[in-house]
Amino acid sequence: MKVSTGRWVDGDDFFDRESELQILESQVRDGNHVLLTGQRRMGKTSVVRELGRQLEAQGWVFLFTDVEGATCPEDVIAAIAKAAHPVRSLAARLVGTMGRAMKSTIGRVMKSIKEVNALDFGVKIRAGLDAGNWRHRGEQLIRACAKHDKPILLVIDELPIFLKRMLSDSDSDGARRVDEFLSWLRGAFQGLKGGSPVLIVSGSIGLAPLVQRLGIPDRINYLYSFRLGPWCREVSVECFERLAESHELRIDDGVANAVYEKLGIGIPHYVQFFFAGLRDFAIMQNRERVTVEDVDEVYRTQLLGPAGQNVLVHYETRLKEGLDDESYPVAMEILAEAATQDVFTSDARQSLERQYSTKLDDAPGCIVEALDILAHDGYLEAGDDGYRFPSRLLKDWWSARFRDHYKPLESRFSDER
Ligand SMILES: Nc1ncnc2c1ncn2[C@@H]1O[C@H](COP(=O)(O)OP(=O)(O)OP(=O)(O)O)[C@@H](O)[C@H]1O
Ligand SMILES: [Mg+2]
Repeated sequence: MKVSTGRWVDGDDFFDRESELQILESQVRDGNHVLLTGQRRMGKTSVVRELGRQLEAQGWVFLFTDVEGATCPEDVIAAIAKAAHPVRSLAARLVGTMGRAMKSTIGRVMKSIKEVNALDFGVKIRAGLDAGNWRHRGEQLIRACAKHDKPILLVIDELPIFLKRMLSDSDSDGARRVDEFLSWLRGAFQGLKGGSPVLIVSGSIGLAPLVQRLGIPDRINYLYSFRLGPWCREVSVECFERLAESHELRIDDGVANAVYEKLGIGIPHYVQFFFAGLRDFAIMQNRERVTVEDVDEVYRTQLLGPAGQNVLVHYETRLKEGLDDESYPVAMEILAEAATQDVFTSDARQSLERQYSTKLDDAPGCIVEALDILAHDGYLEAGDDGYRFPSRLLKDWWSARFRDHYKPLESRFSDER
């Protein structure tokens, strides 16, 4: 098993998740479309990639597309077509379903699908799509998939980021465009007679809070919602031990457990990240064995150090993509409070509301939105006395970032008084 600190994993590098794969596979085989959600770095992309790999071995076609960079529905349709490019007979059928003008444009640049790489194929398809024809062409594409002789699993990863972008880039028109796209997607997949293609939509930003906010929750109600949770202690420990074994790193009893304690929650990426840190530490120190004390040291110097802070930047970017301009600073305040004060209480919430009531038209609404997203995406968990970080690492990261210049919300309010 190789260590992976960034890219998704599958095959021999993919650990556990047997029950999740079993549930997802049975939904897919029954022809149910799925919404896969889960906190950042939980392994959503890996689990759908591994599912696709396993289904491919059983005669399915697996089409995967990441639409994080898409700005309009035309980009999404072209991305799906591009994913189909390696399946020659399917790609040929797609070209066949395009209008005459588009067919001849594509025909001019390629005599056969084989001569064109996937990128060019996607670009050509995209060039033939516009605001007037994407619905129709997109439907033809889905129908072409339905006619394919093998069952197809289509994954659209990071769909909520695309929708969020469309929402914020299109001024007042954004909500209508999101509605239009989601209604189209639902129509295209619900109109299918057989059990293929099956759709899995995934992403680390909440799709449900987004459609709820827009007042269109029914647009995604045909999707079976499945949330990918963290590994339990036992699985996290086993994964850590497997990594150590594969890399011939000797670890003292209790090291894997100490790693789990430090993390506070078994998010696969951080189990891997911690392992990579400890292995580098052992190499640098010329050591053959890693001890429980080393776990503390590596946590402080590496995970909370510059390498860890880089990961945090990525978190902030995702959060910014998931929230609008007014809710984002509010979310940062909430995170800072929960990180430095341990908990974001209802008193702190009231102080925040008062503080932002002069700056924002709807401060309570922004706080609700920010909390919805932060809870949905797993940053915070609601408890009896307020919201707390379930991940110790995440809490320590934010805390390190704000510690020196943070003033608790309630004390700010009492100063004003
Ligand atoms: N089943 C697994 N076995 C081993 N490592 C895993 C597994 N799932 C995830 N990981 C680790 O977590 C990292 C992130 O995985 P992945 O990209 O699949 O997560 P994600 O939830 O899609 O992340 P993001 O929220 O950024 O989209 C991988 O690089 C790998 O280190
Ligand atoms: Mg992902």
